[in-house]
Parts: sequence; structure tokens; C-alpha cells
Amino acid sequence: MNKALRKAVIAGNWKMNKTRPEAKALVEELKPLVKDAGCDVVVCVPFTNLETVLDAAKGSNIKVGAQNCHFEKSGAFTGEISADMLTEMGVEYVVIGHSERRQYFGETDATVNKRTKAALAAGLTVILCVGEMLEDREAGITDELVALQTKVALKDVTKEQLAKVIIAYEPVWAIGTGKTATAQQANEVCAVIRATIEKVYDKAAADAMTIQYGGSMNAGNAAELLAQPDVDGGLIGGASLKAPDFSVIVDAASK
Ligand code: PGA
Repeated sequence: MNKALRKAVIAGNWKMNKTRPEAKALVEELKPLVKDAGCDVVVCVPFTNLETVLDAAKGSNIKVGAQNCHFEKSGAFTGEISADMLTEMGVEYVVIGHSERRQYFGETDATVNKRTKAALAAGLTVILCVGEMLEDREAGITDELVALQTKVALKDVTKEQLAKVIIAYEPVWAIGTGKTATAQQANEVCAVIRATIEKVYDKAAADAMTIQYGGSMNAGNAAELLAQPDVDGGLIGGASLKAPDFSVIVDAASK
């Protein structure tokens, strides 16, 4: 299948930013800028902003996501949010396994797998993050590591469920550092992920899989990254906090 037939998805990851009034203002500013987007547009916002952003985005083409969810349905898990709590609100997407969760909050490939399965069971679309640290790249193990992260994260995920999975390749050394992977580096690893999907599932699944690049993607470099044959979209941190910048990336993905 041709890249043009895959769904391009540009998702903003607001991380721990924006109060409710600020979140509302950002979505209101973004709505007219992306209303004619030729790709899917998602904003993944802090839990406290979900209701505000769902409300502000109503009737627009902006979809709303959370940045994490727990793998149990309910219970004694202080500070956590379940997948069902998200779907009940109308949330459609969730980021799982972001490197900041892996680095700072003890997330492992095994818990990423559990969260992915719980989110899919609840009907959410999962933006599953994988990516190597700088020392992994320097040690020459990027491909193996990212393939392994992908395999473990998707363990026991069915081919049918895979239709609701987007994979975001995010080299950790490129996140929030202003150091973007070159278009070629991004494409190489996205192709490794696609080959992994083909191995574990089949070619049709691999051809249909939306694979994003994330890591200092911005208004200036998005077009080149998104033009790569295996890069189907972007997961955008810093640049998603500025509506004009984010909309330039959406435009680049709409071509
Ligand atoms: P960045 O973040 O665009 O600020 O590098 C990307 C991400 O962490 O998803």
C-alpha cells in the first residue's frame, strides 16, 4: 500500500502545560487554522484539561487525547486514571509509553503493553511511543531496541485491534532538545518499525500502520520529515503549544 493511502495523523502532546483558560484559548486559536486539514488532528492534553478541551473542540475536526492511562479498570491506584474514565468523557486517543513516563515514572515495556491492551479494550486509539536513548544509538543498537519495544508493547494485541494503534517513533535524544533526527534517520527507524509489524502480523497490517516521528518537530523541519516514505505524521511537543506553529505542521502533513 502506498503511503498516500495511510492516514496521516498530527498529534500535539501538551505535556504538563496549560491551565484550563489557557487550554481553551489555545484550542479556540487552533480551530480556524486547522479546519481544512487533510490529516487527522489530535491534541493530547493534561487530565485536568480534558473536559475543557473536549468542549472547546466540539463540532470541529480536532480530536482529543490523554497522555496516559492505567491498565486496571478501577481500584486502589491513587493518582491514576482508567481507560474507561477517558472514553466515558468522549476522549478518543491516549499516548502510551512516552519516554518521559519511561524515564521519570518507572514505565517499562511490560507496563506499556498492559496499558496498551487496556486502552484498546476500552475503545481508545493508542499513540504508542518507542525510541532509543542517545547511548543506544551510539552503541548501534537502535534498530534492535526499537523493534523489541514495539514487539513487547504489542504482545497479545490482535490484528483487528492494531487498526487503532498509531506508533510514534521518538528518539529520546531529540525530545525537547531542539536536536531533530535527520529526515533519513527518522525514516530508517520508522521503516524498521514497519518491518517489525510485518514480521509479527503481516504486510497488510504493516502497510496500513500510521507511524509518526516525534522529537523537536517544528514548523521549519516538518515538511522534510513528513515527506519521508515511512513517516506518516508527527507527535509534537513544544511546537504544539503555539497554534500558528502547530498549524504549519498540520498543513505540511496535509499535502
Ligand atoms: P518535542 O516533544 O516536540 O518538544 O521534542 C515531542 C514529544 O515528546 O512527544
